[in-house]
Amino acid sequence: MVNCLIVGHGAREHVIGETLVKGGANLFSFMSFKNAGLEDLSKDIKIHSETDFQEMLEFCKQKNIDFAVIGPEAPLVVGIVDALEKRGIPCVGPKIEAAQLEGSKIFMRELLEKYKIQSNIMSKMFDSLEDVESYIKDIGKENIVVKPEGLTGGKGVKVYGDHLFSKKDILDYCNEIVNNNNRFLLEEKCNGEEFTLQAFVDGKNVIGSPVVQDHKRAYEDDKGPNTGGMGSYSMEDHLMPFFTQADVDQALDDMKKTVAAVKAETGVEYKGFLYGQFMKTASGIKLIEFNSRFGDPEAMNVLPLLNENFVDICWAIINGNLSKNYEFEKKATVCKYLAPEGYPVNPKKDEPIFIDEKCLEKIGAKHYYASVYREGNNIFTTSSRAIGILGISDTLENAEKIAEAGVRCIKGKLFHRKDVGTRKLLQKRINHMNSLQKK
Ligand code: AMP
Ligand code: GLY
Repeated sequence: MVNCLIVGHGAREHVIGETLVKGGANLFSFMSFKNAGLEDLSKDIKIHSETDFQEMLEFCKQKNIDFAVIGPEAPLVVGIVDALEKRGIPCVGPKIEAAQLEGSKIFMRELLEKYKIQSNIMSKMFDSLEDVESYIKDIGKENIVVKPEGLTGGKGVKVYGDHLFSKKDILDYCNEIVNNNNRFLLEEKCNGEEFTLQAFVDGKNVIGSPVVQDHKRAYEDDKGPNTGGMGSYSMEDHLMPFFTQADVDQALDDMKKTVAAVKAETGVEYKGFLYGQFMKTASGIKLIEFNSRFGDPEAMNVLPLLNENFVDICWAIINGNLSKNYEFEKKATVCKYLAPEGYPVNPKKDEPIFIDEKCLEKIGAKHYYASVYREGNNIFTTSSRAIGILGISDTLENAEKIAEAGVRCIKGKLFHRKDVGTRKLLQKRINHMNSLQKK
């Protein structure tokens, strides 16, 4: 049996852990916050900071870990893989240089520009307010996105029309970033429909999985503040009605070129999972961002469909011999996140949640623990997303029904977006894309 370590504490890590166990692994979990799902799946766990290399190495040695899978970005961008691999623990995750694809938006854009990656968009780096006004004038204030350098937990990016409403708003935000001693990018704003393409990468080969669409806004009909993602869906044909196979092929091709560019530029091979967030616009596919990990919730849409042994895939990533297209079931998935009432602005913390497991089993819905804690047999909310409910079926309609019925098996001061995965929302996206292409 293989002893695998999973690093991280959210629903993404819960589904990664579940898929490793399904592949025959003995699971061990290293997490900063106890995830009840991972606790139940693991032979042993350690609750500790996920960026403490020394403690992680100790735990790996004690438990005879064969390889580690790194779930979140925070340990990757500080070099956890370099530290573990130096001490003989192979990892599924990029080394620090390669993880800059997510850790440094400036590195990413400069790389894409230098290597002429087609889906790259116009952007410019600034470390002061000098020349900002003339850049805004050149591309038009309504076409501006401001991105502070570094990881910002999904809260740093501000888009004209969503968060910024005048030239003054843009300049004030740029000023705030400079006052925090940071650099920033001004980027061209794209208009279209977003999709997530996640891939296994072994340094050279890039193997894609079904495309997923996430829902960032807190409330139905894409209203309200941005969140970590309120739910996501994927379709039975692994596409979406508004993206063709050619669109996905181009996105994957650009991911392959980016992986090659990382090696050419840094000398380090990109290994692990790569998450590409793309937007289909009237002028083609555009790259919005790369993440050096699986998405949360998007990992829940693809890993349960994998018709292969995930432990073998992890070894192939480590050994650089991913060689074929791995098979994913031709099924649709809908994931709905239950979040504490008031999330993300004023979430109700420490509220009990009641999970009727028999009800979930009867319906056939899966559930994954996110930011909740267990005391005795009781589960409580924290300030972040609580539980991901997943429906899988032959059609999107049925997967959505399963997820929605699954949500009703959970009681507590929680809310979710009923519209994720519905035909109505899908039609809205189709209409949006059609209207852009007609212009
Ligand atoms: P990020 O933190 O880079 O994922 O950005 C958060 C969100 O901002 C994305 O999901 C997009 O919806 C939006 N966004 C980021 N960059 C752009 C862009 N260049 N054009 C339009 N929207 C963007
Ligand atoms: N769902 C967005 C992310 O994982 O970054």
